[in-house]
Amino acid sequence: MTTSPLQLLVADDDPSIRDLLGRGLRGDFSVLLASDGTEAIKALGTLRPDAILVDEMMPGATGTEVLRKAKELMPEVPRLLMTASSDPAAAMRAVNHGEIHRFYTKPLRLAEVRRAILELVTRARAEVALRAELSALRAAQTMPEQPTKVAILCEGEMGERLERAARRRGFNVQRARRPEGLQELIGAGGCDVVVVDVTVGDQELAEIAQLARRVDVGTSIVFVDGEGSVASLTKAFQLGAVDCLLPPWPDELLLSVRLERAAARPRERSELRRVTYDLVVVNRDLALANRRVEEGQVKLLGGLVRALEARDQYTAGHTDRVATISMRCGEALGLGTVALETIRVGALLHDIGKIGIRDEVLYKPGRLTPEEYEVIKTHTTIGARILDGIESLACVVPIVRGHHERPDGKGYPDGISSTSLPLEVRIVSGADVLDAITSTRPYRPSSGADDAFAILATLAGGQLDADVVNALSSLNRDGRLRDILQHSP
Ligand SMILES: [Fe+2]
Ligand SMILES: [Fe+2]
Repeated sequence: MTTSPLQLLVADDDPSIRDLLGRGLRGDFSVLLASDGTEAIKALGTLRPDAILVDEMMPGATGTEVLRKAKELMPEVPRLLMTASSDPAAAMRAVNHGEIHRFYTKPLRLAEVRRAILELVTRARAEVALRAELSALRAAQTMPEQPTKVAILCEGEMGERLERAARRRGFNVQRARRPEGLQELIGAGGCDVVVVDVTVGDQELAEIAQLARRVDVGTSIVFVDGEGSVASLTKAFQLGAVDCLLPPWPDELLLSVRLERAAARPRERSELRRVTYDLVVVNRDLALANRRVEEGQVKLLGGLVRALEARDQYTAGHTDRVATISMRCGEALGLGTVALETIRVGALLHDIGKIGIRDEVLYKPGRLTPEEYEVIKTHTTIGARILDGIESLACVVPIVRGHHERPDGKGYPDGISSTSLPLEVRIVSGADVLDAITSTRPYRPSSGADDAFAILATLAGGQLDADVVNALSSLNRDGRLRDILQHSP
């Protein structure tokens, strides 16, 4: 790399000294020569030398006057004065007043002058650089820190949770309700993080990502994807997202950490992006693995119940039928997918507690004595205890414990009334009773479908929930229980 030579302004009215200095310093400097004080001051108006070396006694202006002007125009540039050996006092005063850095009496020792100028220039440059650094540092320290701005386009519980997580970190949060609203927020500038739900559509997502990058390349985009497919995850990162939030939704604290990471400076981002991608994929694999374990638990426990039922011709297939009837009833009552899944698993496991009932009571042909009936009733609490501690099945415990409760409060084990019974529990109770009535029992034949629903109607509001009975009856009228109840004569 070549550097431009240092510029040295030399002023002396003596042509022989000018010539001497011009030739003698040329190796280290590009020397600009002025023949008197006036010419030197004029040169200061157009040039910016790295150092100035002037004679004191000159026509037009003295050396001290020239250097005073130089100090005014370019204070950091080293100033050197040459004087006649007869008058060093003026030069001393000038040094003491800070107008010049060095002075030399004639005749000059050229090597000494050259070394001094080079040293002064190097020091001056270092001082300039240091001052610039210090002032930058001071500016950075005094600059008020702007809170991180987060713009969110995401509805529902996840939107609320995102907002709370962002506020938790002290971020400035703005919510948009539509893609156009989000684009307005981005267009207004200053968004550090843009969080957008992918359900706005592919076209809108691409436009939002493009706009955010155009307005500020430092803006981070985070996608929220409730479906959570690997394909959409890949697409999110292709569109430049730094993170993609997938179910199972992270809790508020983890979410706030993810948002803070997204707001990290761009140079940290490429590495973070890779790590976050890995993290998201690992989390997803973990979630899938957890789900498989949960399904395995349900299958295992459901298998136990089926094995128990299979030992008795009268109860074989009971839980599978209760699960199917319950699901159809839940759908008819307008329940969502999460509640339906709870009902399916709860119905499959509702009688799991019968594992703990003695065979002679459980499989007794004929009516039970009151004592035996009390033993049978414990299958609800035994079942709840079996599932207790299996976190993924916590939501079905109320069904297992409460499927023999009654709206009139005369059920067991807790005797609680309909107002405290979740609809999921009431639905499984209805399906359980319907299947019991339409099944043959050792102590009585099964009822035909018509008789069964006539009996069911009498139970509405007392033993069973009236809405559930209505839903089941209407399913039956529409023929939507025929395949389930076909075992009935
Ligand atoms: Fe039961
Ligand atoms: Fe049952």
